[in-house]
Amino acid sequence: MVSELKKIGFGTWKMGGDVIPDPNNDDARDVEAIRYVLEKGVTHIDTAAGYAGGKCEELVGQAIKDFPRENLFLATKVKSENLGYENFIRSCETSLKRLGVDWVDLLYVHHPNPEIPIKETASAFNELLRRGVIKNVGLSNVSVETIKEYEKFLNVPVFVVQNQYNLVARESQRKGVVDFCRNEGKHFIAWRPIRFSFPGATDPHYQTGTFPMLDEIAKKYGKTNAQIAVKWLTQQDGVSILFKSTNKKHIDEVLETENFELSKEDWERLDKDFPIQKDESFNGSGYFSLI
Ligand SMILES: NC(=O)c1ccc[n+]([C@@H]2O[C@H](COP(=O)([O-])OP(=O)(O)OC[C@H]3O[C@@H](n4cnc5c(N)ncnc54)[C@H](OP(=O)(O)O)[C@@H]3O)[C@@H](O)[C@H]2O)c1
Repeated sequence: MVSELKKIGFGTWKMGGDVIPDPNNDDARDVEAIRYVLEKGVTHIDTAAGYAGGKCEELVGQAIKDFPRENLFLATKVKSENLGYENFIRSCETSLKRLGVDWVDLLYVHHPNPEIPIKETASAFNELLRRGVIKNVGLSNVSVETIKEYEKFLNVPVFVVQNQYNLVARESQRKGVVDFCRNEGKHFIAWRPIRFSFPGATDPHYQTGTFPMLDEIAKKYGKTNAQIAVKWLTQQDGVSILFKSTNKKHIDEVLETENFELSKEDWERLDKDFPIQKDESFNGSGYFSLI
């Protein structure tokens, strides 16, 4: 098992389809992209039971099968409707089968579900830890209060918190989740580091010509806007990212961000003065708040 999380992990949302499998999806392209990042030294692959109705996990399984299991950090998630004890265990077992592995390094609650007692989900986490089929506990789309509530019932500390965080989506920063994780020694992982969309944004809005500040800073460093957006996150202590791409040039660009630093002034300018900053998270169809 890879015990240390690197700053850059690879996401797989939209591989295999949307929430249901897409019969026209280019599966070979998705598998090839995952293999490419693994060959480039990325070890952390993130997927979910809810991606393409489970097909995404199968694609990840195909992609990883020729790589030594102990060199990978595999993470998957349980859908919010499956947080009851039995469903949670079953969801994890199904994920392991689809991935073709005996254990995952990290299992997340994908979204909290106020209808299901946290104590019950925590008890399922404890059982999966006891069986050795999950190595760590993760929570996604959560507030500090929810993390603390889980920790009342878990046998281990929460290892990773995965929330939306990017130049535009600042909820985790403003509501103290990033600081809490840093202070408590938990990994904070930012989802959607590059495609920081919001209603009215002209996609792909991170491209040149949308935000003059981003264009100017990117030009100064000889980098792309996407690279600056990534670096603003990964330069933060305790913050890692998950990005997704099926374009090898884009993948190389993101990995290359490990080779430069933003000056303190430029980092702070992006932090304070980036022109659009939201206090809520945005999932592509609407805003939501961390619970
Ligand atoms: N926990 C949650 O609720 C949750 C929610 C959403 C996402 N996630 C996780 O976080 C991962 C990342 O989020 P995401 O996939 O939504 O967004 P993202 O990684 O910020 O953006 C993906 C998009 O950015 C483009 N891109 C990637 N690298 C680029 C580059 N260097 N230059 C220009 N464009 C680039 C990709 O297109 P190309 O293919 O053309 O490069 C793709 O369209 C997901 O895959 C998933 O694993 C978790």
